Amino acid sequence: MAYTAKDYTKLIGMEGFSQTLLNNHFTLYQGYVTNTNKLTDALAAMLKEGKTGTPEYAELKRRFGWEYNGMRLHEYYFENLGGKSPLVKSGVLGKMISASFGSYEAWEQDFKATGAMRGIGWVVLYYDVPTCMLVNVWINEHDTGHLSGCQPILVMDVFEHAFMIDYGLKRADYIAAFFKNINWKAVESRIK
Ligand SMILES: [Fe+2]
Repeated sequence: MAYTAKDYTKLIGMEGFSQTLLNNHFTLYQGYVTNTNKLTDALAAMLKEGKTGTPEYAELKRRFGWEYNGMRLHEYYFENLGGKSPLVKSGVLGKMISASFGSYEAWEQDFKATGAMRGIGWVVLYYDVPTCMLVNVWINEHDTGHLSGCQPILVMDVFEHAFMIDYGLKRADYIAAFFKNINWKAVESRIK
């Protein structure tokens, strides 16, 4: 059964993000959902038809992770936006950040520095389940650099489409706006 794109229009009106930018971003996200569904169907059909030993099958299999992560990372991203209040530093997540990075400030510095890196991709704050530690990771495009066994906690899009309409080349200003709108409750709820 086809997966349905989620509706994030409640984010419209968020400070520092224009309606044009958000609507374009929602449309891009819907494209990843459409293509993930298309690939799922195409791969299932090829399996049924005995076409798995073909270059076409191999290339679609490789492509799947790119489209799927493009879909899912956008969902994490939109769902960790729209917040109004800062992180409670004495809470569970605040304490984990301090334990992993030394302080909240050190974590924020590292997360922002990762987001300022040249290139297109994502910054993911991961919760490493086996060790209960947190780590900031750069994801190239959508699919390169994910850490197995880790749960994404906070996700930031640093593809140019995420900020250029509103900020041009000023990526740091976009990152500052992102930080003002983090939904820390949603972030904390991802720690299981
Ligand atoms: Fe995006």
